Amino acid sequence: MTDTLPRAAEEEILQQIASAVHRGLTSYPKWLPPWLFYDAEGSRLFERITELPEYYLTRTERGILTQHAREMILRATGRSQLRIAELGAGSADKTRLLLAAAVENQGAVMYEPLDVSDSALAAARKRIEEEIPGVTVAPRHGNYTMGLDLAPIRNGERRLVLHIGSSIGNFDTEDATQLLLLVRAGLDPGDSLLLGVDLVKDEATLVAAYDDAAGVTAAFNRNVLVRLNREQAADFNPESFAHRAVWNPAESRMEMHLESLVQQSVRVGALDLNVEFAEGERIHTENSYKYRPGQAEAMLHATGFEPRATWTDEQGWFAVCLGEAL
Ligand code: AVJ
Repeated sequence: MTDTLPRAAEEEILQQIASAVHRGLTSYPKWLPPWLFYDAEGSRLFERITELPEYYLTRTERGILTQHAREMILRATGRSQLRIAELGAGSADKTRLLLAAAVENQGAVMYEPLDVSDSALAAARKRIEEEIPGVTVAPRHGNYTMGLDLAPIRNGERRLVLHIGSSIGNFDTEDATQLLLLVRAGLDPGDSLLLGVDLVKDEATLVAAYDDAAGVTAAFNRNVLVRLNREQAADFNPESFAHRAVWNPAESRMEMHLESLVQQSVRVGALDLNVEFAEGERIHTENSYKYRPGQAEAMLHATGFEPRATWTDEQGWFAVCLGEAL
């Protein structure tokens, strides 16, 4: 994959990392952007998270897609040929349900996954092309919050953009709205967006999903420090930071933090930066917003989409919404 990535784009990503790390670690409170989690090891750890008993999101959404993929595809296709793009594709595991339904419906389908993880894209391409004949995979490596950059579609084709897996949960309302506007700007009327959002539920269930007994989420959170050690010549001792997962009801979001267990000074060599931590001071590493029923539809409506359908599970834990570009 790396060889398909233009050098300028590669450098732009490195620049984005450096500037975000500098801004985050010199802010008060300190923060790091969640897209930094996904180096090769972070992507691997995230895959393990999706298999944890506490992490209900993936299996709940998979259940919804298993039950309704055919209907979702038929609705999005209309009388056209469908082409499927995915934002933040990762391993694209659940996507296979939709791709298989599209192949069944129209014989062959073009699939364009976008992701910040090279390794995840390469693995997804290999597996999907092997396992679902009829799918052509055209991966795009990059940060889609900067713009969609999709190939133009042909006459008689419609595009379906997938933003599933609660990926939008990392954005606050304003940034999520910006993202949906950006997606809408890359689409034509009649194209559609399938949006997967996690719903508000009892606190114990939410907290357990982000603080599992096996400690995989803790390792995922700390891995961002390992990454900075390697890529930014930092000298974090990851073990001196505790994983914290807290429910913030006022903001309707789960938060992850790394809490310094001691007073310490950390060097980030590549940024020529010394970072001081008080004992108990936290780096805020992620927000995962949880939606109320109807909220995703309202957001779609506000960004140029007509909400066409919403599918959910029996417990009402997760929702998948289809919006048609107006
Ligand atoms: C990939 C953003 C959907 O917020 O649930 C999993 C990432 N963080 N465990 C989420 C995550 C901690 C995940 N998303």
